[in-house]
Amino acid sequence: MIKRIRSWWMHKDSPKPLDITADNIPEHVAIIMDGNGRWAKRLGLPRIVGHHNGMKAVKRATIAADDLGIKYLTMYAFSTENWKRPKDEVDFLMRLPQEFLAIELDELIERNVQIRMMGDKDKLPNHTLKAMEDAMERTAGNDGLVLNFALNYGGRKEITDGMTLLGHEIEAGRLKAEDINAELIEKHLKTHGIPDPDLLIRTSGEMRISNFMLWQLAYSELWFTDIYWPEFNKDHLHDAVAEYQRRTRRYGGLS
Ligand code: FPP
Repeated sequence: MIKRIRSWWMHKDSPKPLDITADNIPEHVAIIMDGNGRWAKRLGLPRIVGHHNGMKAVKRATIAADDLGIKYLTMYAFSTENWKRPKDEVDFLMRLPQEFLAIELDELIERNVQIRMMGDKDKLPNHTLKAMEDAMERTAGNDGLVLNFALNYGGRKEITDGMTLLGHEIEAGRLKAEDINAELIEKHLKTHGIPDPDLLIRTSGEMRISNFMLWQLAYSELWFTDIYWPEFNKDHLHDAVAEYQRRTRRYGGLS
């Protein structure tokens, strides 16, 4: 691990030495990638150019996370509320996963990355779903970084769906209401088997959760930055992890 981090910060386009230690790397980092539209507007460009450059930032964040030894990286790519946007923008966003995978999948496979997706598949266009499912299938045997795309994902919907499943179990007599506990609820969420995020990053200066991983973020450290998502690079990830390492996590107890 130390070797991997050293090689990362000595890379020629990263002059900044890391002030982070290898023994406290967050296992799971989740990112709300915000500010694509404002980034484009600032440059007098259409919003979709912001999203396209946001896609390039996904690559940078993934490589940086992998080099750092982060095990899970969850990216909020499209929320259950994003369908309210103009159709052209939604169509463009729905084409980004396949474009991203067409360009990057081979390198991600070389890096032993495993692609996953969480969110409701039913509303996704066939081409989006197919690209994701192909990538998930091709990377299913990889045991490196898990790159988890939240696509048509909403935290309330996830919890509601989980509760419906539990309700059915009770109706069928396989479960008693008093058996329900946090562990059982976790098993009925889309993140089952993935640890809760240690660190949540949100770009663009907004400081809210926006229906993202509502159950899982209970004890995550939050890190906000004013930069817009298309500007995000490995130095920002490094800053977030360095700040994470300065925090004391108490989980409601005493340090
Ligand atoms: C929010 O910024 C961003 C989104 C709704 C889309 C995020 C998607 C990407 C960054 C690309 C995803 C790439 C892959 C590979 C799936 P916004 O557009 O709402 O920004 P604004 O608040 O400035 O308008």
